[in-house]
Amino acid sequence: MTAGPGTPFGANQRMIEREIERRVAEHAEAWFPQGGGRPTVRLRLVTSRPRALLYAVYTEQESRQPTILAKVRRGVSQPAGNDDGARRRPRLATDQLSVSQLTALEYAGLRSIHATFADASPMFGAVRPLDHLVDLDTILMEYVAAGTLRELLVGERRLSFNKRSARNRGATEVWGRAGIWLRTFQTSMLIDDLPARQSRRADVVDRFNAYDEFLRSRIGRRSVGDIATRGAQLAQSVLPERLPMVVGHGDYAPRNMFAGEGARLTVFDPMPRWAVPRYEDLCRFLVAMRLLGLQLHTHGLAYDREGMQRRESQVIRGYCGESPVPAAQLSCYQLLIMLDKWSALVDESHGSWRTQARAVSVRLAVPYLRSEAARLLSSADSAES
Ligand SMILES: Nc1ncnc2c1ncn2[C@@H]1O[C@H](COP(=O)(O)OP(=O)(O)OP(=O)(O)O)[C@@H](O)[C@H]1O
Ligand SMILES: [Mg+2]
Repeated sequence: MTAGPGTPFGANQRMIEREIERRVAEHAEAWFPQGGGRPTVRLRLVTSRPRALLYAVYTEQESRQPTILAKVRRGVSQPAGNDDGARRRPRLATDQLSVSQLTALEYAGLRSIHATFADASPMFGAVRPLDHLVDLDTILMEYVAAGTLRELLVGERRLSFNKRSARNRGATEVWGRAGIWLRTFQTSMLIDDLPARQSRRADVVDRFNAYDEFLRSRIGRRSVGDIATRGAQLAQSVLPERLPMVVGHGDYAPRNMFAGEGARLTVFDPMPRWAVPRYEDLCRFLVAMRLLGLQLHTHGLAYDREGMQRRESQVIRGYCGESPVPAAQLSCYQLLIMLDKWSALVDESHGSWRTQARAVSVRLAVPYLRSEAARLLSSADSAES
């Protein structure tokens, strides 16, 4: 029996759970030879999201520690891409993948990451992928008992009681490691015949123009100012005509990495779907760090400037190693990613009463977004001069 298209998901949930339990019971001895004997399998629903259900799977009697994480994908496919009409926002990625394709890609990504990082260095961990239940759009992977880097960053905010404990966990090294990890990933992943996006300077300029048009039409010329047009000019002047391309992680952000004991970094949730410009993932990470929900909604008050600057420098230094830092190109790409996120926020805050409240908070965040954009533009200026 499969959870095929058109079948109401709720009706299948029980069946999927039974199937996961059956599969784990059958294979747990092989996956965890030290475990001893055929286990009694228990499932606990950790989160139910529109696109995925996540289960902690327990295979050890009495243990409070899960051994496996089951990720069951579901729901609608990704929204369509670059339809730049009045309602739809512009995007960097343009295609629609089915739930099954997304699941297969994530599993393949986890396998590649595991092959590269499992024994690479004590700096890094790797999630062990265990099984792909193709008919159920489900992945079984080893459970990692650690908080995410996002949680660690939240713990480091001003006025946080956890601040000291975050420091004690060697939190500072982890930022540099996020850079080193990315460079290692890009070196080890083969581009093969992955489709490419924004491989030419002209494509980047085109996206700046698309975000400009979209944001002007939705939040007004005064709110967006000349940020995106200056981004387009910056792209013209600092990017090469053809951009160096690498395999993209897909969502390289602090919420998709675990920061374990001793600042051990374990990256998960890969979607290596595209060949992307080399700096995209690095800049995606930096923008995610700078625009962390909290920071956005407190309009920059949650973290001090110097602290953010220090983390950012550590990430970039980790990524670049001894090579020179292409500062103006990085600012340019961060600006592009920021406009993408800004457009997403504006787009999401359209419609129901729930999103109305969000719209207000997005409007209130405009000054912060603008100041971030100004910071990027001015750091590009000083890097160029
Ligand atoms: N292997 C794992 N071990 C333990 N917890 C995990 C594991 N994989 C995921 N999680 C937990 O589940 C959460 C969501 O996982 P994941 O990022 O794969 O799903 P997602 O639906 O893509 O979420 P998001 O959109 O927030 O990135 C993670 O933040 C983490 O707390
Ligand atoms: Mg994720």
